[in-house]
Amino acid sequence: MKLLCGISLLLVVTVAYHIYIPLPRTISEPWKLMLLDAAFRCVTHVFNMAHHLGLTHRIHVLNYAINGVEMLVPVSCEGIQVQDTHFDGVQVRVYQPSQKEKNQLRRGVVFFHGGGWSIGAPKLGSYDLLCKKMASDLNAVVVTVDYRMAPEVHFPVQYEECLHATQHFLKPEVLAQYSVDPERVAVCGDSAGGNLAAAVSQQIGVDNDSSVKFKAQVLIYPVLQALDFNTPSYQQNQDVPILYRRLMARFWLEYLGANLDHVHPMLINNHTAKDHVRGSAHRAKLDWTTLLPQSIKKDYKPVVKETGSPEILEKLPALLDVRAAPLLAEEDRLRMAPRAYILTCEHDVLRDDGLMYGRRLEQAGVHVTSDHLQDGFHGCVSFAFWPCYFSVGIRAVQNYIAWLDENL
Ligand SMILES: *[C@@H]1O[C@H](CO)[C@@H](O)[C@H](O)[C@H]1NC(C)=O
Ligand SMILES: *[C@@H]1O[C@H](CO)[C@@H](O)[C@H](O)[C@H]1NC(C)=O
Repeated sequence: MKLLCGISLLLVVTVAYHIYIPLPRTISEPWKLMLLDAAFRCVTHVFNMAHHLGLTHRIHVLNYAINGVEMLVPVSCEGIQVQDTHFDGVQVRVYQPSQKEKNQLRRGVVFFHGGGWSIGAPKLGSYDLLCKKMASDLNAVVVTVDYRMAPEVHFPVQYEECLHATQHFLKPEVLAQYSVDPERVAVCGDSAGGNLAAAVSQQIGVDNDSSVKFKAQVLIYPVLQALDFNTPSYQQNQDVPILYRRLMARFWLEYLGANLDHVHPMLINNHTAKDHVRGSAHRAKLDWTTLLPQSIKKDYKPVVKETGSPEILEKLPALLDVRAAPLLAEEDRLRMAPRAYILTCEHDVLRDDGLMYGRRLEQAGVHVTSDHLQDGFHGCVSFAFWPCYFSVGIRAVQNYIAWLDENL
């Protein structure tokens, strides 16, 4: 009996030791987040092992795990018609409310899911429920783009598939076919999907071939730049689950089809040292010392190296490409973008990407609504549904849908 108690105690301590991580006091439901993080780390170990054994690419294992979990989420289909089809050769899923009055035109929402341009299942679980909720709460036709991902394809394929599917949907005859009001179409995305939504809405804004423009863009904790991995939020939240700073750098390199050896030099901003002329030209567009308020900057110091690793920008010109890093756009490009709702989370490495973009859009004359969640963490919008939900996730979804309801 004593032995059993001893073993049980040891087991509990071991599990607690592996699960426990120090978290900021203001974060939403810290114990739940620790469990989620432990599960995530466990899967990460398995996928690293499988990768090193040469069994499969680490991203594939992660995707199997995510799909497995997402399949557990109950499917509810009440009142929403679901159709899988292609827009200009790109796989999409269209959600339409079944009830419709004659001749009534609806709102339209184009949605790009997150997952570091390499993971995520738009047709399963939380993203599926999110699209159904948008379709039903907004009485909208929602198009989710099932773009191909890394490691099969790299930049600019993800961006181009999102753009082409969007251009197809925005054709007047296609909108008419779905009874969508051309004056009331928005684009929306979370995380890497927020990156794609920002990039696509910039392009649609300047595209002379698209007569229909977006009325609004919703960017949920978007990733917008890869030149500074030492913004205050990257410094403050580098170890906060579930998007660690290191993981974000890896997602970037996977997206660009680059060598993961660049992770370390990029994390210390070696790729944008002062001796690189090309990187320096963009510095003002992400100079957080002028773009962010003091309450966010606190006492954090910019990390600017005197000398660095110039070969990275030579090898990866996409780091300076606005289609990959929308924060680097010039003001005349930003000015053509639609009014924006930007959701940022305090406990997120990408917080300052979103805040800086909001500031730059405002400077360009675009109307911006900033929604900053003090207890939010990266990914919370994907945790808004049973069985895995956080109060902050539910709130985030309610907030952005309410904004769309007013502004679309
Ligand atoms: C769109 O038209 C304007 C004015 O004619 C022109 O200046 C601009 O370069 C065009 N944009 C694109 C993307 O072709
Ligand atoms: C960063 O750049 C410096 C100067 O070129 C170099 O000595 C150092 O090894 C680089 N660090 C990494 C991690 O690449």
